[in-house]
Amino acid sequence: MSAQPVIVVAGHICLDIIPAFRESDAGLDRLLVPGKLVDVGAAVLSTGGAVPNTGLTLHRLGGTVRLLGKIGNDHLGNIVRALLEQAGPGLGSRLVVGCEPTSYTIVISPPGTDRVFLHCPGANDAFGPDDVSEGNLRDAALLHFGYPPLMRRMYEQGGAELLTLLRRVKAGGATTSLDMARPDPDSPAGRVDWPALIERVLPHVDVFLPSFEELLFMLDRPRFERIEARYGTRITAGAEPGLLDELAGRLLALGAAVVAIKLGERGLYLATTPERRRVEAMGRARLGSDWIARQLMTPCYQAAVLGTTGSGDCTIAGFLMGLLGRLSPEQAINAAVAVGACSVEQADATSGVPSWRQVMARQANGWSRLDDTSPAPDWVRLDSGAWRGPRDGWVCP
Ligand SMILES: Nc1ncnc2c1ncn2[C@@H]1O[C@H](COP(=O)(O)OP(=O)(O)OP(=O)(O)O)[C@@H](O)[C@H]1O
Ligand SMILES: [Mg+2]
Repeated sequence: MSAQPVIVVAGHICLDIIPAFRESDAGLDRLLVPGKLVDVGAAVLSTGGAVPNTGLTLHRLGGTVRLLGKIGNDHLGNIVRALLEQAGPGLGSRLVVGCEPTSYTIVISPPGTDRVFLHCPGANDAFGPDDVSEGNLRDAALLHFGYPPLMRRMYEQGGAELLTLLRRVKAGGATTSLDMARPDPDSPAGRVDWPALIERVLPHVDVFLPSFEELLFMLDRPRFERIEARYGTRITAGAEPGLLDELAGRLLALGAAVVAIKLGERGLYLATTPERRRVEAMGRARLGSDWIARQLMTPCYQAAVLGTTGSGDCTIAGFLMGLLGRLSPEQAINAAVAVGACSVEQADATSGVPSWRQVMARQANGWSRLDDTSPAPDWVRLDSGAWRGPRDGWVCP
């Protein structure tokens, strides 16, 4: 392995097409009327999905990345590749070109109303294990994959092809990392037995990084619906430490070594396996014994929020940089939410993220937290502003 670890980011990629609306534009129901011509401004084109969001953030932070997504042999595919190349020479060179059209999303977001997305999954539905070549894996320290619920071959047949991919990556010695997305309940992905799929793949996932919302949706739909009915879009308000412990405990028991649950504007929760042997089996992104039996939570840093698109993916990039850079778990979760906070300061996913050195400097300069309240009475505040849970085993193994 080279001095600078190689990170492969594989999975979902699409082109976001975002028409500009005027402040005076009416709500969606008055704009999108059959037969009407709606006069809009220039379209913003940007890449979307786990591969560009997490991958380009890692690149901006100074990481060495390979971006493996699937596009079509078409004009939209050329735009996706050009946008990646613009972000860094060579970053678009490893994309796989398939027979299906390039995936795109038209974002209809007039001021003051909820957005509507017209999404074509396209080539993402055809992404399979063979799209990750041996050559791309051989010297990789870690492969991060997102998002199986938006990629048909990755979720059909109980996730058999996702399992094949993860097994191959592990057998080659690289560490695996996985992010999810919330499946559309009315689509085939919404009818997948997600608890069974997760149970099947987790023994081969070293680092699991779902958001609270999608995790609860997948593992416990009735409880998800109850919490959603109570808190609406602020569902993370229902992410009580007891519930997080329960979910994370389940995921660790199923075989993950590190579980980091994204909590939207409440920050990030971390739990790690109590088994030394599981940590030692993590592959090339080897972790120290300070990663065993941890239970931590960290609030967001304060940010001037312009948009939270892709903030979860950027938070993951910060966490992976910390993990691969041999930071402690506490430092890694703080770095994760620091990168997440930078990302929300621009409307798009990645352009607010500066270099790793600048993120570290901003943290060192007394960056305030969004919320300083204790997650629960038995949690202890650490000097960094993170919180240590009662089951954190570092001081009393
Ligand atoms: N208001 C905010 N201020 C600072 N940071 C924020 C804010 N909102 C979100 N973040 C950061 O972004 C992360 C997003 O977490 P969330 O649970 O929304 O993930 P997600 O659902 O995977 O996001 P995505 O929409 O990118 O898929 C948080 O963990 C945090 O680091
Ligand atoms: Mg996400």
